[in-house]
Amino acid sequence: MEKIVIFDTTLRDGEQAPGASLTSEQKLEIACQLENLGVDVIEAGFPVSSPEDFKSVALVSKHIKKVIICGLARCVKKDIEVAYQALRKAKYMRIHIFLATSKIHLRYKFKKAEEEILEIAKKFTRLARRYCADIEFSPEDATRSERDFLFKVIEVAIREGATTINIADTVGYSYPQEISSLITDILNKVPNINKTLLSIHCHDDLGMAVGNSLSAILAGVRQVHCTINGLGERAGNASLEEIVMAIKTRRDVFGNFYTNINTKNIYNISRLVSTLTGFVVPPNKAIVGRNAFRHEAGIHQDAVLKKSITYEIINPSDVGIPSSQLVLGKHSGRHALYKRLLDLGFKINKDKLEDIFKKFKVLADRKKEIFDDDLIALIEEQTRTKKKVVFELYSLKVTTGTKINPQAEVSIKYRGKLFNANSSGDGPVDACFKAVDKITHFKPKLLDFKLSSVTSGKDALGEANIVLSLKGRIFSSRASSTDIIEASVQAYLDAINKALLF
Ligand code: KIV
Ligand code: ZN
Repeated sequence: MEKIVIFDTTLRDGEQAPGASLTSEQKLEIACQLENLGVDVIEAGFPVSSPEDFKSVALVSKHIKKVIICGLARCVKKDIEVAYQALRKAKYMRIHIFLATSKIHLRYKFKKAEEEILEIAKKFTRLARRYCADIEFSPEDATRSERDFLFKVIEVAIREGATTINIADTVGYSYPQEISSLITDILNKVPNINKTLLSIHCHDDLGMAVGNSLSAILAGVRQVHCTINGLGERAGNASLEEIVMAIKTRRDVFGNFYTNINTKNIYNISRLVSTLTGFVVPPNKAIVGRNAFRHEAGIHQDAVLKKSITYEIINPSDVGIPSSQLVLGKHSGRHALYKRLLDLGFKINKDKLEDIFKKFKVLADRKKEIFDDDLIALIEEQTRTKKKVVFELYSLKVTTGTKINPQAEVSIKYRGKLFNANSSGDGPVDACFKAVDKITHFKPKLLDFKLSSVTSGKDALGEANIVLSLKGRIFSSRASSTDIIEASVQAYLDAINKALLF
């Protein structure tokens, strides 16, 4: 069997999604889970792009020792030097350089001739190779490039020491048969191609990123770039969980291939990435969406009960989806909580358990039945409250009704002191946000606001998702509580804190 190398770029291309910004500590938290998941390469950032990106790559390089850590660089001397500096502490390092090869990019972005691009590819692959033995070279916009020119660039990059060649469908323009023919051509026409590992990087602009990646595997690539939840620029990147589960499920097609992914960790990392970035996973998203394993039609339900294979091609537990059965209640003790969390894949130390247990008791007082999804939301809340906080919600009081003007009184802690403000608004949430703005003196533009319930039942935990823009950048966040107004204000403050820390 041949291994498909999983190159995860959630922390680089994924984080390029507008509003998905992560701090270096959050990136490290995700990197630890990616290591547990079993990915082979973590692209931790683009070190020259910002001091925070540099810090993230350095932090991940220092702590993650089982996986190759990769940093992105343009074919520019400073980029490559800075990438190397950020990666210095990595046990296994890779520098990933990229250079556009399509006529469109040459003409409008670079204003350079093909000969000049060939020279640049040669010069900077050679330079990168002086710093690091593991070099990945990506012809950017490869799928829209003239094939003969693309082959020449690839040949030069390999000659100068590139150990992986990554074919980028940068604008998600290709379709599966086209990708297959391109990969076949590269394998047949680039004379030194057997000296390198061939890789694919697909974007989802036409919804074909996963199909294109799988088609590339069948045609001969042995590494795929992907992200958790398909997070990424514009419509996103190829989703890790979909590629991995397609390989695992369709043994009739992909029987010669395997990945190192521990699929039971997929659901937890999907939730973690969604919580930290504030990007909600759509309910119908394949593999990790809330509805991915739910059957509504009576005929389907009946058949699934008789034999799940009738309408289920994947066992939900294979991707770590919790059973959502009633698990715990008001009288459950620490041990039961610890055991259930362990079953859900969360290894909790004693201090953390004590903290979660307290929150669990508060929740159990507000809500009779505690489901697995409630427990996951509790863990996520803990992750949220662990984050560095500038403004912290201390208390809030809201008066609202059908014939009165909603009023809010909000109290926020800032640098150890309490600040209070009152405001009216169009509704209770609007009144609260206005009161928050009076305290923080920021007036972010609210771009999106959604409320949903974590589980079923009138007493379910409510989850608020916020996307706002502040000083020209977009930030998203989410929070949950049995009180939807509190969840909304927590999420709002969280997004403001994110913006300030950024
Ligand atoms: O989409 C793209 O072309 C990229 C490259 C840096 C590989 O992300
Ligand atoms: Zn990309």
